[in-house]
Amino acid sequence: MKIDGVSYRSVWINEEDGWSVNIFDQTLFPFSRNILRLTTPDDVAHAIRSMQVRGAPLIGAVAAYGLALALRNNASDHALETQAAMLAATRPTAINLRWAIDRLLTYLRPLPEQERVKAAYAEAGKICDEDVAQNEAIGRHGLELIRDIASKRKNQSPVNILTHCNAGWIATVDWGTALAPIYMAHDEGLKVHVWVDETRPRNQGAALTAWELGGHGVPHTVIADNAGGHLMQHGQVDLVIVGTDRVTRTGDVANKIGSYLKALAARDNNVPFWVALPSTTIDWTVSDGVKEIPIEERSASEVTHIAGRTAKGEITSVQLVPDGSKAANPAFDVTPARLVTGLITERGCCPATTEGLRAMFPENQLFV
Ligand code: MRU
Repeated sequence: MKIDGVSYRSVWINEEDGWSVNIFDQTLFPFSRNILRLTTPDDVAHAIRSMQVRGAPLIGAVAAYGLALALRNNASDHALETQAAMLAATRPTAINLRWAIDRLLTYLRPLPEQERVKAAYAEAGKICDEDVAQNEAIGRHGLELIRDIASKRKNQSPVNILTHCNAGWIATVDWGTALAPIYMAHDEGLKVHVWVDETRPRNQGAALTAWELGGHGVPHTVIADNAGGHLMQHGQVDLVIVGTDRVTRTGDVANKIGSYLKALAARDNNVPFWVALPSTTIDWTVSDGVKEIPIEERSASEVTHIAGRTAKGEITSVQLVPDGSKAANPAFDVTPARLVTGLITERGCCPATTEGLRAMFPENQLFV
């Protein structure tokens, strides 16, 4: 996607040295744009943990490069296994992280040590390219849903789409998942308007999704997280599209905390609730998302404090709760498949069911 007319991906190899890894520091968006140069696997682990990079597909891609960086230093079997385990443990919920690391391990283990560095960079690059292609395909399939609603409109009002968190191009390598159909609809001239949930506590909607949509010229309105149900009751939401960090083989969906409540409100108001994902986000080993998907518990300080920009342009953090009050911060929740209208994958849209996923990905061997 473009920033000020220049095309970027969310992760790329540093052009000057040809080996270090560049990312945007997403903790500073939307107020400043800082490119970070990662040179060690520890840099990568820190970037993922601190959410300088975040979003399920992106952390997988960056972790893959993290393993390549580790092997530059030591490409032994021991280093490969320990560094892979270290990177895979940086965040627990998004399955793309483990998927990307497992893919590299499977590819690199049989190779002689001296071939591993080059091979790791090549495979990480392939993961990135495939992610871009998959998200573009998701965009094309999701576009059909928006076109369908637009074609039934009797007036000139926009198609109103609600989204939660940030599942845009900076959460992936490019395009995004939930936002890809919206970008394509806007680009082909369909009238769309996006309700952007602020997404407390880290405000990925207010800070990142709003910034992305604004940069692309897509009309949008940021709303408090609790406003969605009210808007749905008043016919102001035509469909919900969210991304996901892990989908079970039965169609349960883990996504940013608060997604479940949006799905409940959507069901109560007959608003379609779609989930956009590349197949790398499917965990074929899990069937019960509520019981089996590990939910990341993040620092209480993300709830007790909030960061923003002062009138003088300084970035600062302020306390919201009384001294001594405890806070809890589960970062994701699971929306049961029964509340999901359907899944938008790179191969097309399907029901959020075992049968729907089996028909879409028949090559998967883990169906029982
Ligand atoms: O904690 P984050 O910001 O990494 O959470 C991101 C999300 O929940 C996204 O919706 C999800 O990863 C899909 S990104 C295409």
